[in-house]
Amino acid sequence: MTNRYCRSVTSQNFDRLTGKVAVVTGAASGIGLAITEKFLAEGACVVAGDVDVAGLTSMTTLASDRFLMTAVCDVTTETDVENLFAVAQSHFGGVDVVVANAGAGTYGLLADHTLEEWSRIIDLCLTGVFITVKHASKTMRDGGSLLTIASLNAIQPSKGMAAYCAAKAGVAMLTRVAAMELGERGIRANTIAPGLVRTNATSGLFSVPAVVDEFVENAPLSRHAEPSEIAELATFLASDQSSFMSASFLSIDGGGNTGRYPDLPRIFQALDE
Ligand SMILES: NC(=O)c1ccc[n+]([C@@H]2O[C@H](COP(=O)([O-])OP(=O)(O)OC[C@H]3O[C@@H](n4cnc5c(N)ncnc54)[C@H](O)[C@@H]3O)[C@@H](O)[C@H]2O)c1
Repeated sequence: MTNRYCRSVTSQNFDRLTGKVAVVTGAASGIGLAITEKFLAEGACVVAGDVDVAGLTSMTTLASDRFLMTAVCDVTTETDVENLFAVAQSHFGGVDVVVANAGAGTYGLLADHTLEEWSRIIDLCLTGVFITVKHASKTMRDGGSLLTIASLNAIQPSKGMAAYCAAKAGVAMLTRVAAMELGERGIRANTIAPGLVRTNATSGLFSVPAVVDEFVENAPLSRHAEPSEIAELATFLASDQSSFMSASFLSIDGGGNTGRYPDLPRIFQALDE
């Protein structure tokens, strides 16, 4: 029986971003793609940036160019990021929401970690976010919402993931600085920190059942996430529903931050034996 005081809010949940223009990096796959799809469903206009040209091309079926523009953008190249924001300005007239999402992981124990690999991950996962946040700061309209995608690894260390952990911890602090600098313009800045999510980036981990098993054992909710669950949180943070939230670090990891990260060297060594 339906309680007359309980009405469905479904219709309200599909226009939370109407009138807003969003820029999403790393938008052609995984979490970035799910965020783009959800933002479009909630009424936003989106400028999607990625290095994956084929992925961007396939995205053009998601919406007409009245709502979705794609641009090739390597977040480690400042002119590409400038161009991404210029597309948003020229096509949609401004920017209200920015999601600095592009990133990738790596594995290597400290003693074996090359400087090149360290620099590649820091460039992509930290400097790329800095460049995106810098141009977001210059371009966003007052009252906007800036999101960065860090990771459980921003707060939970893992053997073999020094560069990624350091970069993601840096993203969390960079976002808090952005919140301080942009607050006077009413711009909010928050960090999303996912645990294990099934995407292209984690297909390697998912091919090793022992890794997924340890994630699941360590998470009170005993499972991994799907990208759409991260997109729900991103939508809430992008919308006016989170109007008093800034400088927040939001774990979305099934509670995995209460445990410990899978022992990757032990698991990988066992595979070699
Ligand atoms: N999947 C997870 O379990 C998980 C967990 C925590 C955090 N994250 C973070 O979420 C973000 C998205 O990861 P995902 O799992 O969706 O990965 P994904 O590989 O599915 O998507 C990443 C996208 O970023 C793009 N990209 C890579 N380098 C780029 C660059 N230099 N410039 C612009 N785009 C670039 C890729 O082409 C790809 O489309 C990353 O920052 C990642 O670190 C993922």
